[in-house]
Amino acid sequence: MRVVVEGVTKRYGEGTGPAVEALAGVDVTVEAEEFLALLGPSGCGKSTLLNMIAGLLRPTAGAIHFEGALPAGRPPTAMVFQEFALFPWRTVRGNVEFGLEEAGRPRAERARIVREMIDLIGLAGFEEKYPHQLSGGMRQRVGIARALAVDPAVLLMDEPFSALDAQTRQLMQEELVALWERTRKTIVYVTHNIQEAVYLADRVVVLSRRPGRVLDVVEVPLGRPRAEAVHGEPAFVRTVERIWALIKGQAREALQEAVR
Ligand SMILES: Nc1ncnc2c1ncn2[C@@H]1O[C@H](COP(=O)(O)OP(=O)(O)OP(=O)(O)O)[C@@H](O)[C@H]1O
Ligand SMILES: [Mg+2]
Repeated sequence: MRVVVEGVTKRYGEGTGPAVEALAGVDVTVEAEEFLALLGPSGCGKSTLLNMIAGLLRPTAGAIHFEGALPAGRPPTAMVFQEFALFPWRTVRGNVEFGLEEAGRPRAERARIVREMIDLIGLAGFEEKYPHQLSGGMRQRVGIARALAVDPAVLLMDEPFSALDAQTRQLMQEELVALWERTRKTIVYVTHNIQEAVYLADRVVVLSRRPGRVLDVVEVPLGRPRAEAVHGEPAFVRTVERIWALIKGQAREALQEAVR
């Protein structure tokens, strides 16, 4: 399914004091089966945009619509949140099963899907563990499995690996690339890490500082499958440099404001 974000502006707190403009006139199209990264500095409205695509928030102006048929029983979107978004009172199995229960799927079907998902994310043997018994990387895998279990048309991921240490993050990125290459799920992936965006995505939407506007949409000229070694390829380095050039001035301004 395609997602079309058209002229979307979001202001928070209108009428209750000074309003905060999070996003201003954002146009973005997410193509079916595309891995799209949304890159921008902290506070530029990335989560806001993702929440609007998920239908959890409404734009102040503009519109978001989905194009293409949605098979019966499948939700348009599912979200992988930042850390700590699992239900602590549910086991790995219970977390992965959650959306399927909500959707009223029969027990046998739920059990089959949960088994598939747990295999997919490599957590076989951990089904009965609770989130506090898992490492950060494992928890995020459960978050991904929980979102994938309901087979959404579009998977929304909000900085899913930002709380992980660098090595685990690298491994999780590799797993996600492999998973995406297998499933070709449409993904919108929010990050403020340029290397991560370029490594994972087909295209990178670069947002400005708040209020977030689209500075540019950068095509990633790297083939698939992608292995860790692409980090050293000239095309990778050039793309990272190109994006950095786009946002460098903004990062400098933010730093100057912070020390003022
Ligand atoms: N519920 C809200 N009420 C008022 N202001 C909000 C609300 N949610 C977000 N904001 C403000 O809107 C702006 C954008 O927030 P948002 O969380 O979308 O940014 P972000 O790009 O996801 O940032 P980060 O990278 O830090 O997660 C910020 O200035 C934030 O303070
Ligand atoms: Mg955010």
